[in-house]
Amino acid sequence: MLELPGTYGIWSPGEGFVLARVAGGEAEILTLAVCPAARRRGLGGALMAAALAGAALRGAAAMFLEVAAGNAAALGLYLGLGFAEVGRRRRYYPDGSDALVLRRGLDPAPGAAS
Ligand SMILES: CC(C)(COP(=O)(O)OP(=O)(O)OC[C@H]1O[C@@H](n2cnc3c(N)ncnc32)[C@H](O)[C@@H]1OP(=O)(O)O)[C@@H](O)C(=O)NCCC(=O)NCCS
Repeated sequence: MLELPGTYGIWSPGEGFVLARVAGGEAEILTLAVCPAARRRGLGGALMAAALAGAALRGAAAMFLEVAAGNAAALGLYLGLGFAEVGRRRRYYPDGSDALVLRRGLDPAPGAAS
């Protein structure tokens, strides 16, 4: 996936990683995961902060992501970072649960690509 245009990743070896993509002035989180043993120590937040900064550097004006409506851990993380719900995809996941579409605006970094 990292070879796809606009795709980038940040990882902490053995602990967690995030993959994101920028296209057409918008960014999206493709996946975020922290190993169970490394959770609740701030790594998820640090990976997301790096992904947001990377998106701004690449000229994105907003970041989007999808999260299962029942994923309390991820929702807590994202809402704490300023994401807000902008849509819902009904029965999006194989178990029949809905996906929430979240968005956060970004301040393009000085000298960012456009
Ligand atoms: C979601 C995930 C990445 C969070 O990673 P993490 O390193 O534990 O996150 P952080 O330690 O940075 O937590 C930041 C905030 O998120 C929220 N949060 C994290 N885990 C939580 C939990 N189990 N329950 C409720 N809120 C939680 C809290 O607000 C937390 O802040 P606090 O610790 O000061 O209360 C991790 O739980 C994970 O990998 N889950 C499985 C994969 C997944 O769901 N990925 C997201 C798909 S959209």
